Amino acid sequence: MSTAAPLAGKVAFITGAARGQGRAEALRLAADGADIIAIDLCDQIDSVPYPLSTPDDLAATVKLVEDAGGRIVAVQADVRDEQALRAALQTGVDRFGRLDIVVANAGIAPMQSGPDGWRDVVDVNLTGAHHTVEAAIPIMVAQGDGGSIVLISSAAGLIGVGGGDRGSLGYTAAKHGVVGLMRAYANFLAPHSIRVNTIHPTGVDTPMINNEFTRGWLKHIAEELNAPTDFSNALPVQVIQSEDVANAVAWLVSDQARYITGVTLPVDAGIVNKR
Ligand SMILES: NC(=O)c1ccc[n+]([C@@H]2O[C@H](COP(=O)([O-])OP(=O)(O)OC[C@H]3O[C@@H](n4cnc5c(N)ncnc54)[C@H](O)[C@@H]3O)[C@@H](O)[C@H]2O)c1
Repeated sequence: MSTAAPLAGKVAFITGAARGQGRAEALRLAADGADIIAIDLCDQIDSVPYPLSTPDDLAATVKLVEDAGGRIVAVQADVRDEQALRAALQTGVDRFGRLDIVVANAGIAPMQSGPDGWRDVVDVNLTGAHHTVEAAIPIMVAQGDGGSIVLISSAAGLIGVGGGDRGSLGYTAAKHGVVGLMRAYANFLAPHSIRVNTIHPTGVDTPMINNEFTRGWLKHIAEELNAPTDFSNALPVQVIQSEDVANAVAWLVSDQARYITGVTLPVDAGIVNKR
């Protein structure tokens, strides 16, 4: 990678990087010069009705980054397992020698599930983000060079969209919880020049929503519920692309955003403002 690249010499830790937004973020940050430490569960969670990613998906991310001239270490790990996550991150830090950027992106959307869906979505989307930051803190603080942490929330982290099923309530609650986590970490880590922000995408065209179960769920709440059902954006676009979120991540973790911390950044085609 060229030394003129904005993230040259930096190392980025990305969770949920086997596909979707995580893969796009890995590709984009690598194109900007960062070395990538990628982790993903690559396995199924019972309450999630659509297929999660596979080891082949994670291998495809590795190939795409390497084919583009980037460097990447990929490890299969579960963000719910803090020790496994720390070990996976350390594998990458041992290889690349440092850590500058964290993107807590891994997530599930078990929208129509019952109490097990609530538990799993809070465990993955909220506790998993917490584990991701906790694993990174000692490394970044000891390094003493600052850094940037981005937690991928959702438009559902700022407004009460969704249905009344436990999995959907859990998704909205967990994504709001990520904002509280970000605000506390932003204050706590500011003396170390480590910035912490959230990004709030509207619907993104990834396997999380582009599958028969989530499509069915969207239809179900549109037909059977009232107020919280309007998922239409203000801008005339049905869904955005993973690259749109990756672009925002790339900017937020760069020096262009060096004094931006504690911010909730919608990448949402105006859906939050519209509500
Ligand atoms: N797609 C959307 O419409 C949308 C909108 C707003 C926010 N988001 C959020 O964006 C993030 C990325 O989602 P996506 O759209 O790319 O979906 P995706 O399902 O394509 O990707 C999510 C990845 O996270 C991985 N993952 C799930 N549980 C994990 C765990 N316990 N440990 C490690 N990895 C795990 C999955 O295997 C998958 O590869 C998620 O946090 C999601 O909630 C998505």
